[in-house]
Amino acid sequence: MRRKLAVGNWKMHGLSPQLGEAEALSERHPDPACEIVLCPPATLISRMWELLIGSAIHLGGQDCHHADQGAHTGDISAAMLVDAGAEYVILGHSERRHDHGETDAHVAAKAAAAHSAGLVAILCLGETEAERDAGRTIAVVGDQLAGSLPEGASAANTVIAYEPIWAIGTGRTPTREQIAEVHGALRARLSDRLGSEGDGMRLLYGGSVKAENAREIFAIPDVDGALVGGASLKAGDFSAIVEALEAAPA
Ligand code: 13P
Repeated sequence: MRRKLAVGNWKMHGLSPQLGEAEALSERHPDPACEIVLCPPATLISRMWELLIGSAIHLGGQDCHHADQGAHTGDISAAMLVDAGAEYVILGHSERRHDHGETDAHVAAKAAAAHSAGLVAILCLGETEAERDAGRTIAVVGDQLAGSLPEGASAANTVIAYEPIWAIGTGRTPTREQIAEVHGALRARLSDRLGSEGDGMRLLYGGSVKAENAREIFAIPDVDGALVGGASLKAGDFSAIVEALEAAPA
């Protein structure tokens, strides 16, 4: 049984006043029927953690370095995220692959570091619009999966998020069939590589998930939840997505 998971990626949004959104979300979902994770900017993690003690909301970072510590100005280690209260970390988001030149090998090294520190790694994959138009989607995400998943990945320590780049922040989403095709292909590859651990690994969809389309997306086979950007910033918006996930077929 894969526990459903809603992850909010705040990206580079959020100052002290936005801590109230996290508190409001926790008040709306004291005992959720799915797992809820917020990934605020690193500057807010420890304060959010203090605010949410005793709540059902889990916290995550948006990136970590592959090394335990060292001379890496501006970077954050997996252990530092744990120290701040995080249990998850998003890795290989397309914005980091694009803005910071992260390759699959970097992502795999970061995921291994996250696992060593006890974090659940949320590994992001996704094709560009040009790759989709060229009929290369399954090959692209398959290669990203093969290259980004480290040795030792398991259903307990890894989540995969399929985020088509052209759907992020655009209001456009793939069709039901397109999402089902990619998630089905990812599930098959995970099962081939990891056996029952691959069957149990959660697959999230991300890219313009909103209250209006969440129910339809969560009804697609092999969609175990969502990685949500813009619609996770306001408690009311994210709460509606959480409710759709709670109501989704098992
Ligand atoms: P949006 O939900 O804003 O499209 O962002 C998706 C995303 O990139 C989450 O990681």
